[in-house]
Amino acid sequence: MIKSLNEYKKKLKEFNDHNKYYYDLNKPKISDEKFDVLKKDLLKFEDDQNLKIKEVQNSIGFKPSKKFSKVQHSEKMLSLSNATSNQDIDDFFKKIRNFLNFNQKKEIEVIAEPKIDGISAALRYKKGIFVQGLSRGDGSYGEDITENLNTIKTIPKKISADNLPDNFEVRGEVYIPKSEYEKIKESFSNPRNAAAGSLRQKDAENTKKIPLNFFCYGTTQSGQKICKTQSEFINLMKKKGFNTNPLSEVFKDIENLLKNHKELEKKRSELNYDIDGIVYKVNNFELQSRLGNLSSVPRWAIAHKFSAEKGFSIINDIEIQVGRTGALTPVAKLKPVTVGGVVVSNASLHNEDEIKRKDIRIGDTVCIQRAGDVIPNVLFVEKNKRPKNSKEFNFPIKCPSCGSKVKKEYNHQTKKFDAVARCTSEGYECNKIAIEKIKHFISKDALNIDGLGKKVVEKFWELNFIRFPHDIFKLNYKKIEELDGFGCQSANNLKSAINKSKEITLEKFIFSLGIRHIGQENAKILANYFLDINSFSKIFDKKNREKIINGIIDLDGVGETQIKSIQNFFSNSSNTKAVSELIKVLKITDFKLKKDGKFLEKTFMLTGGLSRMSRSEAKNIIEQNGGKILGTPSKKLNYLIVGDSKPTTKKIEKAKNNGVSILSEKAWYDMLDS
Ligand code: IVH
Repeated sequence: MIKSLNEYKKKLKEFNDHNKYYYDLNKPKISDEKFDVLKKDLLKFEDDQNLKIKEVQNSIGFKPSKKFSKVQHSEKMLSLSNATSNQDIDDFFKKIRNFLNFNQKKEIEVIAEPKIDGISAALRYKKGIFVQGLSRGDGSYGEDITENLNTIKTIPKKISADNLPDNFEVRGEVYIPKSEYEKIKESFSNPRNAAAGSLRQKDAENTKKIPLNFFCYGTTQSGQKICKTQSEFINLMKKKGFNTNPLSEVFKDIENLLKNHKELEKKRSELNYDIDGIVYKVNNFELQSRLGNLSSVPRWAIAHKFSAEKGFSIINDIEIQVGRTGALTPVAKLKPVTVGGVVVSNASLHNEDEIKRKDIRIGDTVCIQRAGDVIPNVLFVEKNKRPKNSKEFNFPIKCPSCGSKVKKEYNHQTKKFDAVARCTSEGYECNKIAIEKIKHFISKDALNIDGLGKKVVEKFWELNFIRFPHDIFKLNYKKIEELDGFGCQSANNLKSAINKSKEITLEKFIFSLGIRHIGQENAKILANYFLDINSFSKIFDKKNREKIINGIIDLDGVGETQIKSIQNFFSNSSNTKAVSELIKVLKITDFKLKKDGKFLEKTFMLTGGLSRMSRSEAKNIIEQNGGKILGTPSKKLNYLIVGDSKPTTKKIEKAKNNGVSILSEKAWYDMLDS
């Protein structure tokens, strides 16, 4: 294990030298095993420390270049949410139908496309000529890899510009065929890495040496205007000379979709390229556009992954981990075993019921399953291998961290107790909860501080440097400088990264607090409601809280679960204190309302179900047009849209009293079309 930045730098140099011997000169000086261990150690350090420049992670193949210029994508390159079970697929369709206000039986046409395990790229065509190609990068900015993409024979350099907009973008996956990978497999750990390494060569001549291929699977919103459906678009791209996947198929029901998943999973090994699942996309572009996107994934698509790899090992111990929201998660500490090329030494046991149901005990031999990057699962126990003296596992009744009572919550909707046991301490009194809250605070989607990863948080915690999130802004850098693995430069870098992170948007700030059930989407809804930190902080005062809660209860997307969680969070004084301290040190910027659109500076509220669309979609449309959604028919409200299905009379009355304009669903559509 690498312990310090200095050690990392030393080993990185070794790695780069060996990389060169290995890939460039084809004369390795150390064994493959040693090289792999070195690489793994470096990767782990980069991840643990959240290093901004992850040299090893980016250095697949020959020495990578840092010199590709960064170019903004014309439209964000999204990723996909994953489904691993049939239930996930059912849920996906349920959500879509709800959003579109469709009856749950209404048919939705879906295209199922193999999910190619390669590297995505965006190709820009100007009047039919390939002019620029970008890697995905961070989704918003990609690297200009035009020259490298130019070496790929299956990327047409000129296409017929008939019926295309002057600026047209094709998106797809670059991959290496398995047969070609076979020829160079000594140099790369898998075909995907081979493709990635090859694409990022500074010298396109090197890219040329590795025969890459390209499958087209999409375009941007402006590109979509040329067709009505994804299947039509794919056919058109085929006609224009792109490689499109012949196994893509349109389905109208889940049953056949799942049958196709099973069949393709069986066929997977026979294909000349790696696929790791199937992507389901709502076929109709208009429906896609109505459904829209969450922050990084579309609502209209999902990746149905193939099942995971399995292996056997022995449980040496069962450890109870305490999460940010107090959840007690039992984790099996396994005798390390390699499953699908990855060393596994932990497996999640989920909760007490799962342990009981599968009768899992310390000393048992278990079958484990790995799916993607998530912590593996225990599938079953090999009872015939159980030691004679084995005992049932007793789940703790007190939090192993702070000793508070452990509780299973009653769910009023399901009328059952939760399977998850939780520590009853809500705030920073429980050390494990506190440290997890801090880890969440600095995580990628929250403050994302360069050089301050989870491991550093643990180290600072051990050294008593931090107990609350705001302690991060009061660190003693003289002390940090003296720590093993830091030094003057790293301490200075950390200081400036922390200072830089002080300016934060209201929605990120709300998300960073780690309130249970308040993820990025809900944080945005709340930020849109409160608008600035002053109005948000009124919630700390118990006297105001009820009133505020009454205001947010009607916001779309905020239900009773969220409300209860917000109440619980702020009724704990250590939480309120921590948040107040943060407000003192941070510069929290106001929520950015859209500055254009026909509903600019207009406020809306909805009551009753609409016939043509769901409330979520209506809300989306209002926001996209610059309008704002209010939770109460107060004097600030301009319009109350009254749907036909069960509108609340009280709200209408109150709105009328406050002089609010009442709109029927039809009147609102007319306003939208005007
Ligand atoms: S659609 C908005 N279609 O999977 C949806 N992606 O996990 C964006 N991928 O970054 C992607 N085959 O690199 C789409 N037929 C396919 C795909 C595909 C492979 C990759 C793509 C994307 C990743 C998301």
